[in-house]
Amino acid sequence: MGIIVLASGKGSPGVSCTALALALAWPLHVPGTTSGPERVLVVEADAAGTSAVPGYLQGTCSPAAGMATLVGTSRQEMGERLPQAVIRLEGQPDRYLLPGLSGPTQMAAHRHTFTDLAGWLRVMTRSDILVDLGRVGAAAEPSVLVQAADLVVVVCRSSMPSVLGALHAVSYLRSLPGSAADSRPSPIRFLLVGERSPYTLREVQAALEIQPLGVLAHDARSAAVFSDGHSPGRGFARGPLMRSASHIAQTLTAYLTSETATVRTSGTTARPGAKGKAVTGRG
Ligand SMILES: Nc1ncnc2c1ncn2[C@@H]1O[C@H](COP(=O)(O)OP(=O)(O)O)[C@@H](O)[C@H]1O
Ligand SMILES: [Mg+2]
Repeated sequence: MGIIVLASGKGSPGVSCTALALALAWPLHVPGTTSGPERVLVVEADAAGTSAVPGYLQGTCSPAAGMATLVGTSRQEMGERLPQAVIRLEGQPDRYLLPGLSGPTQMAAHRHTFTDLAGWLRVMTRSDILVDLGRVGAAAEPSVLVQAADLVVVVCRSSMPSVLGALHAVSYLRSLPGSAADSRPSPIRFLLVGERSPYTLREVQAALEIQPLGVLAHDARSAAVFSDGHSPGRGFARGPLMRSASHIAQTLTAYLTSETATVRTSGTTARPGAKGKAVTGRG
């Protein structure tokens, strides 16, 4: 399975909403089959701190859950605590969120906690991981997660400021050291949140010179479920945001499957390390 990092340049194009929408739409394996991820986990790693707790979770997060409960643990203890630290998305089995630290001060103080976390994420072989890295370039950024990623997705809007921000984010991400395992840099793609405002997907692709994953619909009403904790109305699951998230999630899982196959046939292992303890979480 794989680790996908979602990040952005300047502005607030919708990284956090995108991560949660993708996780809810993520295609999980059909019982009885052997392929495909069994679980999906969103890891909040934004240097600015959690947005899910004040937003999607409406300010309520069990003191037993979240990244804060992993701070100060040994690597071994972290693996044991992880299943309790995650919470279920929408009460659904197999879709989880690891809420981030509360703010930039905590992120700066505990950045090293993400190094051990990255090690655990890489051995969760039956889970796909979506890392919400937020805006790139902050001093407290846990860039070790970029090194652990199979794919980095730069999220941007179709406006000039957002595309320019994304351009800087791409160049910054390219400047980071490659993966610890084989020193290859993680591939980068982009995802557009809303098209023709004013630029088209093709125009943004020409500016960024990287491949697109597609367009996530601009759907403020659905996005407010994730960013502001609004209740999902009756049309939420079939609304533009979740329908487009479903397409993007399919594209991403197909990408991970083909990448893993390519890496395996070229003689290295996509997920180095011993078989680890998978998240079974509760929430
Ligand atoms: N697909 C979308 N359509 C419309 N509005 C969105 C979408 N995604 C996010 N938003 C809105 O944009 C704002 C920022 O979203 P957020 O996910 O917190 O951005 P970021 O994580 O990049 O800072 C929020 O008000 C949110 O409701
Ligand atoms: Mg965010």
